[in-house]
Amino acid sequence: MINVLFAATEQRWTEYRAPLTEAFAARDLAVDLRTDFPPEAVDYIVYAPNSPVQDFTPYTRCKAVLNLWAGVEAIVGNQTLTRPLCRMVDHGLTRGMVEWVTGHALRHHLHIDHFLAHQDGDWDAAKLVPPLAEERPVTVLGLGELGAACAQALAQLGFPVTGWSRSPKDIEGLTCLSGPEGLAQALSTAQILVLLLPLTAETTDLMDATRLAQLPRGAVILNPGRGPLIVDEALLAALDAGHLRHATLDVFRTEPLPAAHPFWAHPQVTVCPHIASETRPLTASRIIAENVARGETGAPFLFLVDRSQGY
Ligand SMILES: NC(=O)c1ccc[n+]([C@@H]2O[C@H](COP(=O)([O-])OP(=O)(O)OC[C@H]3O[C@@H](n4cnc5c(N)ncnc54)[C@H](OP(=O)(O)O)[C@@H]3O)[C@@H](O)[C@H]2O)c1
Repeated sequence: MINVLFAATEQRWTEYRAPLTEAFAARDLAVDLRTDFPPEAVDYIVYAPNSPVQDFTPYTRCKAVLNLWAGVEAIVGNQTLTRPLCRMVDHGLTRGMVEWVTGHALRHHLHIDHFLAHQDGDWDAAKLVPPLAEERPVTVLGLGELGAACAQALAQLGFPVTGWSRSPKDIEGLTCLSGPEGLAQALSTAQILVLLLPLTAETTDLMDATRLAQLPRGAVILNPGRGPLIVDEALLAALDAGHLRHATLDVFRTEPLPAAHPFWAHPQVTVCPHIASETRPLTASRIIAENVARGETGAPFLFLVDRSQGY
């Protein structure tokens, strides 16, 4: 019997219990799935970083920790975790992010807010013809599972898309840049900027006043990545100065975003409560079962986190 500890919130247990049980059965894995085991009996931990399990020392026979979230910044530095850590890559998570990013990009591209504000019978005041997508360069920072999928979806709509990543890439339909020298170039053309970077020591505060100033006047920012990728005060200053047109933010330095935070009341900021994309239990359970099957046969785990890079 393979003992799998489910270490996440009660609500997640309700959502995941049945699909995980089914996914293990579909792989012919004899799994005992529970929310409580003696630590020394646990073979795998299905994990959310907001679970009470924070000290992994007693889990002496654990073969891997399988994260339910794509982002691992809350667990990657945990010194008690010495076993392999896998992050979540899930069809539902990726497709949800593609829909969120394309929807919010099109809102700003098509000036939908302008038409909502001109419903008063004044035909001429309402008249604003948006450019074609092919005339609106977009930049996506981060070309991983989510960034690459979003960049390709935007390119398919006709936007000229530049992507930026740590290592050089060659992705059909995209202009791919990398490294510090590529960033200034990627920002300089970005009428819409999408942030899909993980939060690491290198990406924290990436979009500070200097980098925001490198964006063209009137640019829009979409941040479904992580809150600390942007310096809040610098973003507010760039919006107030008229340099940026709008920021649509799904993630924040403090979540929930405090009621007194200036983002809530700012007319050029859209606050979303970290809903851009959710791990979907049905498809995510299959990934977890696949990784348990791999662990049992000694095959390499999927989506292993590189601790040295922090993601
Ligand atoms: N809002 C939401 O609902 C939600 C949901 C899921 C995920 N997220 C966020 O989205 C992030 C991205 O997810 P993912 O699955 O696409 O991650 P991923 O596959 O690990 O991709 C990360 C990308 O960022 C690039 N990168 C990392 N550090 C960099 C640096 N210092 N300079 C330049 N590029 C750098 C990587 O470059 P290389 O390709 O060269 O490694 C890679 O292209 C997650 O970490 C999480 O924070 C948010």
